Amino acid sequence: MSKIYASMLSIGAYSPQKRLTNADLEKMVDTSEEWIVKRTGIKERRIAAENEAASDLGVVAAKKAIERAGLNASDIDMLIVATLSGDFLFMPSTAAVLAGKLGMKNIPAFDVLAACSGFIYALSSAKAYVESGMASNVLIVGAEASSRFMDYSDRSVCVLFGDGAGAAVIGATDDPSRAIVDVKISSDGTGWDNLFIEGGSKNPIREGKPHKPFMQMKGNETFKLAVRALTNDVIEILARNNLKASQIVHFIPHQANLRIIKAVGESLGLSDDQVVLTIDRYGNTSAASIPMAINDVYEEGRLKTGDLMLLDAFGGGLTWGSALARFGG
Ligand code: ACO
Repeated sequence: MSKIYASMLSIGAYSPQKRLTNADLEKMVDTSEEWIVKRTGIKERRIAAENEAASDLGVVAAKKAIERAGLNASDIDMLIVATLSGDFLFMPSTAAVLAGKLGMKNIPAFDVLAACSGFIYALSSAKAYVESGMASNVLIVGAEASSRFMDYSDRSVCVLFGDGAGAAVIGATDDPSRAIVDVKISSDGTGWDNLFIEGGSKNPIREGKPHKPFMQMKGNETFKLAVRALTNDVIEILARNNLKASQIVHFIPHQANLRIIKAVGESLGLSDDQVVLTIDRYGNTSAASIPMAINDVYEEGRLKTGDLMLLDAFGGGLTWGSALARFGG
């Protein structure tokens, strides 16, 4: 019997209509277009409409991914959602809600919570389920309405994040030239207080008690940790697969900060045309950022079957990860 490989069969994404520009933010907090562009590379981000929760963004991306894989919703036998801004605080999972919206009944549906690394964590799970034969077509979705957890008086965080969703179908192939080559995921919980949102059992939200249910981040410290972890990670994943940076067609990193992306890209000696940048138009969309970026490359007609992609992400937890995948669509 030939070996089964997991493959990214398709990609889809959705970005909400409403734009929040740097000029808009200049009117809300003490910031400037110049500071935001120079320090982050962000020009604008999208914001979910009032009636759009994470699952509503995810449903549009998911339908596109299923259709582009040439499948129906009934062909999906597992749904994994990566989000830090799910529809509800812990229960039910956004995956369960999304499965309901997609008409998927009786399939396993669960969330992974790994902040901005969530899509790589979901990809890792999907790969394992498909390669073990426990699932045939896993839908993985990164969906974020993180604007709901922004304090729009805190300039150090609110200028960074935007909303959106991306989705991919991970199926089986016996063709290694279309396979997900490797996924590497890591965490270091001693750094949990670099990035967090309150409201859980550690400090539950209670009436009359001061609380801050907004994203809080030690930006500069996180920046340095991200550059170090990601640089080591991408070098290691290439080395353990005997691949060279020159073989990467698309380096598609999590879009948190242009300077982090450049530092990691330079450590590998990548050229500008290998590096995919969407941060200018979407900001940091957390778990949605990598699939949204893959989707942009796909819709620009630049993503071909068999193209080798290097993905990487760093986020709250702390968590980080990287993946090497040949596009299978
Ligand atoms: N506008 C103007 N000035 C600002 C702003 C702003 N929006 N925000 C901060 N500043 C000021 C600070 O107050 C500080 O002023 P001071 O020197 O007078 O004290 C100065 O700018 C420099 O602040 P730093 O925080 O040192 O700026 P830095 O260059 O580190 O950039 C940033 C901040 C953009 C947040 C960067 O540190 C970063 O991108 N960090 C990593 C983010 C990340 O990767 N997170 C992980 C993924 S997210 C997730 O998992 C949910």
